[in-house]
Amino acid sequence: MNYISEIKKLKKEKNAVILAHCYQNIEVDEVADYIGDSLYLSQMAAKTDADIIIFAGVYFMAQTAKILNPAKKVLLPNLKAGCAMADMINLEQLRNFKNKYPNIPTVCYINSTAEVKSECDICCTSSNAIKIVESLKAPKVLFLPDKNLGRWVEKKLGNVEVITYNGCCPIHDRLEPIGIKETKAQYPNALVLAHPECTEEFLKLADFVGSTTGIMNYVKNSNEKQFIVATEKGVLDRLKRDYPNKQFYDINNEPSICQSMKLNTVSDIYYALKNESPEITVDNEIAKKALKCIERMLEISK
Ligand code: 13P
Ligand code: SF4
Repeated sequence: MNYISEIKKLKKEKNAVILAHCYQNIEVDEVADYIGDSLYLSQMAAKTDADIIIFAGVYFMAQTAKILNPAKKVLLPNLKAGCAMADMINLEQLRNFKNKYPNIPTVCYINSTAEVKSECDICCTSSNAIKIVESLKAPKVLFLPDKNLGRWVEKKLGNVEVITYNGCCPIHDRLEPIGIKETKAQYPNALVLAHPECTEEFLKLADFVGSTTGIMNYVKNSNEKQFIVATEKGVLDRLKRDYPNKQFYDINNEPSICQSMKLNTVSDIYYALKNESPEITVDNEIAKKALKCIERMLEISK
């Protein structure tokens, strides 16, 4: 069966939209309506008038789309697609963290569960984290789960104390500064572009730090020809496809792969759309509270 053409047909018949994160398997782009980073996809989820949303991404992304669209059907093609970072903090751990530092605004990275969002003041993505923390106009903020993104925001702002929870993305956190030095030795003219989920020591050596879309836009607007890209393989795959005259290298020539992001296949998407399952549901009370946290972010990021 030609899954791609069948998906396109079903999308029309069922008034469905497919949102795809740029870490997905690259063939997913052929059926996706919107492809981008977490912020862009949550903005598209908030705007869509489709009846069915298929989220080619990980669980927290589909959950966010459901919270924004309680009356719509939101499908995650492979229910096993979780996020190791989002799983690093649950409600009890969040409450303990907040109790340790009372009366400080709490910012959660969108890579967190609906329960966690329901007890945070505002959420953020990697592309708007600085703006969101700044908008609070507070001398101190609690930031979770990603210690690396929180530390990066603190360094960029300079006038806010960011108290971070001890979570991270295992895929980005494992990249070491020595890897930049070794890769630069091989490609001395290449610029280093890194995602802010990498460690502070790693980011110090980068030429540019930004979200997945930020990295792709940087390449688009740059006259440079060689780039060492420190983020998940999906971004490199798309850069190689879109800029055949430029060269892109992984740290130590070893791709960083988020296995969860690769779980949604084109056939999974077809069956999800055909069977309208697996569907994401969120408890009403949790969803109402989490919605405030997400909407506050979207309002600031317009
Ligand atoms: P962005 O989509 O904000 O670049 O974040 C990357 C990521 O790890 C999503 O899980
Ligand atoms: Fe989560 Fe990291 Fe995978 Fe993004 S790359 S989904 S933060 S585990």
